[in-house]
Amino acid sequence: MHYGARAVGAVGAVGLITVEASAVGPLHRTTSADLGIWNEEQAAAHRRLTSCIRERGTVPGIQLQAAGRKGSHQLPWVGAGQNGPVSAADGGWPTFGPSAVPFGDLNVPREADHADHADIDEIVEAFTRATRMAHLAGYQVVEIQAAHGYLLHEFLSPLSNHRTDEYGGSPHNRMRLALRVARAVRAAFPADKAVFVRITTTDWVEGGISVDEAVMFAKELAAVGIDLIDVTSGLVVRDEAARPPRGGTGSTSSSRRRSGTRRDSRSPRSDRSTICRWPVTRSVRSGPVPPGRQPARRSTQHAARSFSHGPVRGSGRVGRR
Ligand SMILES: Cc1cc2nc3c(=O)[nH]c(=O)nc-3n(C[C@H](O)[C@H](O)[C@H](O)COP(=O)(O)O)c2cc1C
Repeated sequence: MHYGARAVGAVGAVGLITVEASAVGPLHRTTSADLGIWNEEQAAAHRRLTSCIRERGTVPGIQLQAAGRKGSHQLPWVGAGQNGPVSAADGGWPTFGPSAVPFGDLNVPREADHADHADIDEIVEAFTRATRMAHLAGYQVVEIQAAHGYLLHEFLSPLSNHRTDEYGGSPHNRMRLALRVARAVRAAFPADKAVFVRITTTDWVEGGISVDEAVMFAKELAAVGIDLIDVTSGLVVRDEAARPPRGGTGSTSSSRRRSGTRRDSRSPRSDRSTICRWPVTRSVRSGPVPPGRQPARRSTQHAARSFSHGPVRGSGRVGRR
């Protein structure tokens, strides 16, 4: 009833409720207790939740995630939590990532197959299947998790992706997997339902993803029909030398504890004005974002209202709030 409670109140009081990161396959979980959305039995269970949310006039969404090298760790409230790997002998499972480089103390991932890209194809298939299950479950929005150091972000960031094939190296190559997933998810979800992507604008480390690269990625996502870019940052490496002190990013100390990142109080504060949620709905469906155009500040809830109450006219933008 937790989600139902969020949706209670005046009908439509909350525009969108997104069920947090749900694994696209058993080997793509972060922990053994993750929520999953890879089969019909799970879809049926999710349907009870989406019905409850929809009855209250709220749009139900779900975030789809593959953990990559952050998979098979302990439950957040047990022992070392997100910093504690679970071995196969203790009920864990093998993980893979773009390169055999671990996150902090977690297990060393297997490098995703180079020869025939079977691992990469499986990822695309897993997101596609999960999207079909999300539709079956009654979700109206799916969000692809391509941030916070999980698999798609691991491919995007040069800090975790050291590949020399077409999935590594240049920004274009590092974006290849995430764009394949975005295209496949968009194609698998009905056209009148929305697909969001959560991206990172900075890895908070020299040599990681920059704002310019993130903008390039956002434009590519817009070109494949993604409806909204949900912007966040960090968590692809444990030591984020340039992360601003608390209050500078909106990140909570608990989220840093959960991910095993540390705060460096010597770091300069960033200008948050460039880090906001950037709706690309409708306007980018009909063409790329014009250069120099300022992103409007609008939350996902506001975006959901436009899906809930019909398409926005004109440029597709809702005015600043
Ligand atoms: C307990 C907890 C659970 C979270 N779960 C998710 C999640 O499932 N998916 C996600 O994208 N972010 C998740 N986050 C991260 C937040 O959405 C948010 O990104 C973070 O608090 C930092 O804020 P910022 O992205 O605005 O910088 C979680 C954060 C906390 C503290």
